[in-house]
Amino acid sequence: MANRSVGVSPLPLVELLHIVHRYGETEVLSDVSLTLSGGEVIGLVGDNGSGKSTLLKIIAGYHQPTSGVVRVLGRPTTLRNAGQSRALGIEPVYQDLAILDDLSLWRNFFLGKERRRGRFGLGLLNARWMRKECETRLRELGLSRIQSVEMPARLLSGGERQALAVTRAVYFGAKVLLLDEPTASLSAREAGNVLQAISAARQRGLSVLYIDHNLHHVLPVADRVVVLEHGRVVSELRASQVTEDELQRLIAPPLSHT
Ligand SMILES: Nc1ncnc2c1ncn2[C@@H]1O[C@H](COP(=O)(O)OP(=O)(O)OP(=O)(O)O)[C@@H](O)[C@H]1O
Ligand SMILES: [Mg+2]
Repeated sequence: MANRSVGVSPLPLVELLHIVHRYGETEVLSDVSLTLSGGEVIGLVGDNGSGKSTLLKIIAGYHQPTSGVVRVLGRPTTLRNAGQSRALGIEPVYQDLAILDDLSLWRNFFLGKERRRGRFGLGLLNARWMRKECETRLRELGLSRIQSVEMPARLLSGGERQALAVTRAVYFGAKVLLLDEPTASLSAREAGNVLQAISAARQRGLSVLYIDHNLHHVLPVADRVVVLEHGRVVSELRASQVTEDELQRLIAPPLSHT
């Protein structure tokens, strides 16, 4: 059985301490500290260019911070590349990542992690088991439009793709999910699929860092909301204690006429 349940970790999974990041001369993150804990969704919001994607890419191992410390499970860690982050259970989920259009849903779900028969997993593919397992996961997710796990992935909507990718990452033991605008250009219904997959990941004890401009999507699933402005954390609030309007004002304060 694959490791599907990581349990709620009492430890912070990832901590960023005083992160500074420069692209050449330009400083785009200034002294950012952030803690990602198990069983928690953090909504990361802020204006265009405020540094959200850069922050996510640092955790994903794509960029190394100019200065500051990253701790994973309490240990100072240098994330040199995406493979290293992934090996630690940190999984960025991209819109088109690792989904092959012509393969069936179940083949996609188990892509590169196929279950085989035989004592050492060297035999034929255990297709029956994989189909059933994939069916169960998708049913749990409530993707009601999907009739069969034999259908090719090309027939999935954008939201269903994202939801499948999130579910797959959770199933194979990710501890931290990184999502950069996963609902961009999706219809409300499709976005619902993604939000449901995010909630399910949280329930399983994962930590989710979720970037979205659409506060209507972020607020209902986030536990905490962190607002970035020009590379600095300007607010950090419990999602239940702020309305969409209030949050919008924190992101883009009304112009002052003084
Ligand atoms: N690879 C790069 N090289 C140079 N500058 C970059 C690079 N990536 C981003 N930037 C700059 O860094 C700043 C922060 O960009 P980032 O993509 O992190 O912002 P963001 O908050 O994700 O914005 P958006 O909401 O528009 O996606 C921007 O000014 C951007 O132009
Ligand atoms: Mg971005």
